[in-house]
Amino acid sequence: MASPEFHDRLLSLGLARVSEAAAIACAPLIGRGDEKAADQAAVDAMRTQLNHLDIQGVVVIGEGERDEAPMLYIGEEVGDGKGPSVDIALDPLEGTTLTAKDMPNALAVIAMAPRGTLLHAPDVYMEKLAIGPGFKPGVVTLAMSPAERVSALAAAKGCSVSDITVCVLERPRHEEMIAEIRSTGAAIRLITDGDVAGVMHCAEPHLTGIDMYMGSGGAPEGVLAAAALKCMGGQIFGKLMFRNDDERDRARKAGITNFEQVYTRDDMVTGDVIFSATGVTDGSLLPGIKREPGYVTAETILMRSKTGSVRRMVYRHPLD
Ligand code: FBP
Repeated sequence: MASPEFHDRLLSLGLARVSEAAAIACAPLIGRGDEKAADQAAVDAMRTQLNHLDIQGVVVIGEGERDEAPMLYIGEEVGDGKGPSVDIALDPLEGTTLTAKDMPNALAVIAMAPRGTLLHAPDVYMEKLAIGPGFKPGVVTLAMSPAERVSALAAAKGCSVSDITVCVLERPRHEEMIAEIRSTGAAIRLITDGDVAGVMHCAEPHLTGIDMYMGSGGAPEGVLAAAALKCMGGQIFGKLMFRNDDERDRARKAGITNFEQVYTRDDMVTGDVIFSATGVTDGSLLPGIKREPGYVTAETILMRSKTGSVRRMVYRHPLD
């Protein structure tokens, strides 16, 4: 029987419940120094909610390979099996360390799209470059040096390079890139984790103060970030990076044949997508979970690429 149509409008509110549930489950574990417990709580809650949705879902970006992750592993079937066939990309807790240390920008994140339209990115690094909406395609590219990207973006924005802020993951592997960006006069917002949020920040520079994201991070997070930018507007480029044969094997298993490909946003997400992220800890895009006697409050950003709609929803959840 043919799969029912992907009714993104109907499914989107259900998707918001899924990221809300994951974020709320982390509430008692924020700032408690236990990354694993926080992640497990988010995974359990996300899976339970996901299985309430009328979908025939397959996790394409998940918690890991089947033999590494007991739940929400890549290939796991989710949903009640009654609705449309969809791909699911998720990260129940993007920023486990951020949550354990109560540092900014931890999110519960999920994206859903018709079956076969999300890149099955293996769990390897991806070189990423992202900017917000309103620029000509290719105004910055991965082929440019970091300094050239800064100059090109400043020229396109009609501002000085010193008015540009670039978001970068603080890692030893990025030291050279950071020095080169600083040599241009641009500012850098260093983040310790959470590059899905890092990329999303580029889409709302007036709120976040960030114009561009660059550097390497997880490839699965790259697909989630591409899904967010497909809804919010903006460009992202990603190239898989391989450190050894095991990583190349992972890519082959995921169906990747061209190891040199530079993926655009629309290569990573080829059709319509819905995306939901709920704040776990306070951040520039979303406030985190607030705990008060008797209830917790969570804020979610829920978006659809078909319409470009961006909805921010505050949910008050009573505690037993
Ligand atoms: P968690 O999986 O611990 O939540 O970390 C997420 C993250 O910071 C991503 O946002 C980023 O893509 C990746 O880890 C970076 O990897 P590494 O820490 O190996 O540089």
